[in-house]
Amino acid sequence: MGIDYVHGYTERESIRLEDQANCLSELLHYDSVFPKNSIILEAGCGVGAQTKIVAPKNPDSKFISLDISKDSLNKAKEVIQSLNINNVEFQTGNIFDLKFPDEYFDHIFICFVLEHLPTPINALKSLKRVLKKGGTITLIEGDHGSAYFYPYSQYAQEAINAQITLQSNSGGNALIGRQLYPLMIESNYKNCKVSPRMVYVDSSKPNIVEGFTKNTFTAMVEGIREKAIKSSIIDEISFDKGIQDLYRTAQLDGVFCYTFFKGTGYNI
Ligand SMILES: C[S@@+](CC[C@H](N)C(=O)[O-])C[C@H]1O[C@@H](n2cnc3c(N)ncnc32)[C@H](O)[C@@H]1O
Repeated sequence: MGIDYVHGYTERESIRLEDQANCLSELLHYDSVFPKNSIILEAGCGVGAQTKIVAPKNPDSKFISLDISKDSLNKAKEVIQSLNINNVEFQTGNIFDLKFPDEYFDHIFICFVLEHLPTPINALKSLKRVLKKGGTITLIEGDHGSAYFYPYSQYAQEAINAQITLQSNSGGNALIGRQLYPLMIESNYKNCKVSPRMVYVDSSKPNIVEGFTKNTFTAMVEGIREKAIKSSIIDEISFDKGIQDLYRTAQLDGVFCYTFFKGTGYNI
């Protein structure tokens, strides 16, 4: 079972999530460290792309990694077993209908999920119920409005905008990164802090050109081609030119920038 979310559950999307997590692991997770002996809920773990980075950073804590998609969980289990990581238990579940008692978890971690949910505040409130007093929630999200690049291309911008519109039409929000602070405040988390994490890519960093500009960001926009054209958000020629121009930013003189947002808040 899964939900109809904008990126889908294809093999290519699993690989893209892997690339995204691997290439961003230092930037997003250098501080994803929780106190020893914590019980941590990873909500919406998908194929385990973040799990395999964050769980080994916290070997003395236990993770319960939950997702609504059984297929994704099966893939996640395989990955975690193949890496001999043994502090993760996977569970099928719905963030909006959690089967755990009140105040069950010491900490909660949720990455690239809120952007797909029509009611992120309800998700944050549901998660708060199962978070111990004094415990923290950690949220990580991108914001497609933060993408800028050289050479500039109106087509590339339109292709990105098509992704933003498509996600919004299916009830999500591809501009949610900038909203993490107000969302946490509205959900009654306290001592909230947000840290912007900027990815800057030029050709002096060939790994990030491949891992981020091409295989994460451009692959993500490319992945919505059929849906965007079918729903008449953008025409075929403009979209394809936009993708071509996004790949163009990965050439020797190209530059690509994007900002992720990592927020933490307390249940007090
Ligand atoms: C973009 S993926 C991110 C996966 C992972 N956190 C990562 O960063 O690679 C979003 C995940 O959220 C899951 N999801 C969406 N709505 C959910 C819900 N209501 N309850 C549990 N999981 C959900 C989807 O099945 C999908 O695996």
